[in-house]
Amino acid sequence: MSKDSLIIFDTTLRDGEQSPGASMTRDEKVRIAKMLEKMGVDVIEAGFAIASPGDFESVKAVAETVKDSTICSLARAMEVDITRAGEALKNANSGRIHTFIATSPIHMKYKLQLPPEQVIEHAVRAVKYARNFTDNVEFSCEDASRSEFEFLCRIIEATIDAGASTINLPDTVGYGEPEEYGRQFSSLIQTIPNSDKAIFSTHCHNDLGLAVANSLSAVMHGARQIECTINGLGERAGNASLEEVVMAIRTRKDVYPVETDIDTKHIVPTSRLVASVTGFPVQPNKAIVGANAFAHESGIHQDGVLKHRETYEIMRAEDVGWNTNKLVLGKHSGRAAVKARFKDLGISFESDEQFKVVFGAFKDLADKKHEIFDEDLQSLVSSNTSSNYSEIYTFESMEATCKTGDKPKVSIVIQKDGEEVTAASEGSGPVDATFKAIEQIAKSQADLELYSVNAITAGTESQGDVTVRLARGGNIVNGVGADTDIVAASAKAYLHALNLLESGSKAHPQHTGV
Ligand code: KIV
Ligand code: ZN
Repeated sequence: MSKDSLIIFDTTLRDGEQSPGASMTRDEKVRIAKMLEKMGVDVIEAGFAIASPGDFESVKAVAETVKDSTICSLARAMEVDITRAGEALKNANSGRIHTFIATSPIHMKYKLQLPPEQVIEHAVRAVKYARNFTDNVEFSCEDASRSEFEFLCRIIEATIDAGASTINLPDTVGYGEPEEYGRQFSSLIQTIPNSDKAIFSTHCHNDLGLAVANSLSAVMHGARQIECTINGLGERAGNASLEEVVMAIRTRKDVYPVETDIDTKHIVPTSRLVASVTGFPVQPNKAIVGANAFAHESGIHQDGVLKHRETYEIMRAEDVGWNTNKLVLGKHSGRAAVKARFKDLGISFESDEQFKVVFGAFKDLADKKHEIFDEDLQSLVSSNTSSNYSEIYTFESMEATCKTGDKPKVSIVIQKDGEEVTAASEGSGPVDATFKAIEQIAKSQADLELYSVNAITAGTESQGDVTVRLARGGNIVNGVGADTDIVAASAKAYLHALNLLESGSKAHPQHTGV
């Protein structure tokens, strides 16, 4: 029996970026977008063009680089937003404008302060205006899961008539329940006379841990697009996770009436890239991409898997890209080989100077670590390429002394505004001592909200990938640092976070009403 296509719409670069502290630079967004394109994602929401000049540049750069996926920008139902989205997408092979307005009674009354009739007028005007830029217009009824059925029927019929070819029903606050959310789709599709002229789409938040279940239920009730993110990144508890949705559909072919074009072996490398760029590590027991997702601990399970894999395994680890981090390069690899491998990973450099810096870091790493994996290369680029923040602090060197029974001591040398400064401190452990020493110089008054270390690759030679989340005055940032010495990686991550903090953060217009 032939199956319908399910459109995979990835919003890691837009909704994912709305996670506190998960902001990405333009170059990082382009790198992730290229991986998503390679994976076969149908639509990539690259950002919210009006949000800031940086967002605009990111959408534009992704639109100019990625050719096989449709590139989308979010826009409120306002002409200024839509014009900006249209400009950013001008050079896309295939561009989509995604415009939205809230449709629930509570949002219309308190946030928009508009009567329902005017909300419909805004929505229709926005869709018609967006059609001046592209034929591919998506309209979202924000907070659809708490909106009234009759009102949804009216606004959806009107926006399809106005030219929307995708209708998205977001569960904006993660309130939906699978059966109820699913039935909303089948009821709307059956009732709205022109519903056959549009694809119905899900967009679920994970506040109750139901984002994937809600999305899949909607598919059983007629949805043919799922909006999701890598690692389930996103506002608050996140969005439906792409890897879970895709693997559920692939593994339970017997249940779901749809198929996707996703090449699943790119899932784990993409997950790692997103985790390293955003500084949001993946929990070990996370489905599909967690370090333990395919690790069988109990003797009974191991015995069963050895005798016949399917006794306990419903998916193959290699099908989602585990164990594909081939040994690529080492100490003796030259510039050409290193550059070629970066090219294979979809990474290009803005200038020879930029490549020189990364190649220098590669050589330093190869001196400490014999085998350099793709993940190491990704992390070298994250730590060594220019970013849209001012680099006030840079790591120079450090010395840590740890002796059982004594308090660890650290002395660190950093550059502050181009000048070398030294500080020393004791602490409860070497990392604590390092952060205290840095604070003697920075006096940031920031709160440390998260500190985490993960091994980038297998084995004790691996680099430690450290995330440091700092908060100050409502501004939250995630700093990342990698090194084979995890105390040095921690210092780098702390300094990165301080640099981000000093550069300020942007406000998302989605949070500012309308
Ligand atoms: O959660 C939400 O409602 C959104 C929309 C803007 C699609 O992200
Ligand atoms: Zn959302």
